[in-house]
Amino acid sequence: MQVGAIHIDHSKQRLDAAVWQALLALAETRQVSQGIARMFAGEKINHTEGRAVLHVALRAPAGNYVVDGKNILPEVHAVQARMRAMTEEIQSGAWRGVSGQKIERVINIGIGGSDLGPRMVCTALNAHTPMRLDTRFVANVDPTDLALALRGADPHRTLFVVTSKTFTTTETLMNAQAARAWLQATLGEDVGRHFVAISAFPERAAAFGIPPAQVLPMWDWVGGRYSLWSAVGLPIALAFGYEVFAELLAGAHLMDEHVRQQQLNMAVQMALIAHWNSDYLGASSQLVIPYSEALARLPAFLQQLELESNGKRVNHQGELIQSSVPALWGEVGSNSQHAFFQWLHQGTQIAPVDFIVLKQQAGLSRAQTQTLNANALAQARALMLGQTHADPHREFPGNRPSSMIVLDSLNAHSLGQLIALYEHKVLVQGILWGINSFDQFGVELGKAIANQIVPVLQKNAAAESKIAEFDDSTQHLLHILAAAGVD
Ligand code: F6P
Repeated sequence: MQVGAIHIDHSKQRLDAAVWQALLALAETRQVSQGIARMFAGEKINHTEGRAVLHVALRAPAGNYVVDGKNILPEVHAVQARMRAMTEEIQSGAWRGVSGQKIERVINIGIGGSDLGPRMVCTALNAHTPMRLDTRFVANVDPTDLALALRGADPHRTLFVVTSKTFTTTETLMNAQAARAWLQATLGEDVGRHFVAISAFPERAAAFGIPPAQVLPMWDWVGGRYSLWSAVGLPIALAFGYEVFAELLAGAHLMDEHVRQQQLNMAVQMALIAHWNSDYLGASSQLVIPYSEALARLPAFLQQLELESNGKRVNHQGELIQSSVPALWGEVGSNSQHAFFQWLHQGTQIAPVDFIVLKQQAGLSRAQTQTLNANALAQARALMLGQTHADPHREFPGNRPSSMIVLDSLNAHSLGQLIALYEHKVLVQGILWGINSFDQFGVELGKAIANQIVPVLQKNAAAESKIAEFDDSTQHLLHILAAAGVD
């Protein structure tokens, strides 16, 4: 099947016509088409949080995307106009730091959906188009991450984009505070001009000291992991120009229209095959292997997209379900061939693979592209056919499924299509399992416990007396780690 710049070949999957018919019947029973339509119609399909799911509106040039009786598109386009203006101001040098100098380095501070999407896109496009502004990403609360991004940076010429939908995320706030202190050490107290924020709670960004005109909004109908199309994508525009960001949106919109209009679309096909692999063939994990260094961050991005969305154990009614999304992992080819492909070919578990190859790659000669693609084809064929051998150590069982995703070339438009395709695949999988793909309560418990542990490790007297309230295992480790760290 070909849609836009993407061709997918599923011929190495382990299914025949009868299985395919059964999967189509399942899609019918689970009302996949109706589920897709409900999302586009702005229904509050994230029912546990009472929210619509309308990232598709962020890439729509026109139309009616309604939340609570109001078309949200005018507001979306108004924010895009602000992003464009801000981008042009910063790139042209009209935007000056407090000492009157132009910005030359941009550092995005954010984590999860406020990091992975723009980081992945910037990494991918950087291979194609050189960045206009040196754009970097800091996510880890380990200050090494920020320190590395700051290497060689000039405070006079550095702009931080603090991206946090909630503006309460500990890692992001600690990094933003460290960034502010780094600026203030050279520039003095008033460093607001060196910050931009993206948040659904602009007042929290303002309380941090970021002037309101430098805060771009997002909305509760955009999930963090689906937010790179919103103002969260500002670093992409800053790095390459707003027109490149617009191309990304246009590519995603092309895929949206295909999914909205065609019943047996590319995303439904992918989701049905993934469902067959996990729920019937028993695959406990799945791999994404891009044969492109530019797509190095794609597996990490897809990990959040797929696992935070569909890593659920109860259905819409709150009843336990038997299966949901298998773990997703991956690494660029051909590096991964020399790391874990042994496991893929001869291990005891089966993991379906999405191979991603490009017909053309910027900066690569025809021969270089051919080498990469020959490797992808060889691996897929070896997985499918295996090899019989008298010596069992040299035997390959074969019959291991994969799909080949072929991109005409890698640019903002085709990348937008690819990301949107996976987003829709995730939606359809969630419909098949009958789960809410759009909440993420599973990340909350650990955060809450960390907040209880921090004061204990800081030897806060009141908290120390609470050590006994922890389980034995945690108490043991608290005693060991209480002395950790150097001041
Ligand atoms: O901890 C998970 C999570 O809530 C993600 O869903 C989200 O993308 C990330 O944290 C960052 O959240 P925020 O944008 O609110 O800082």
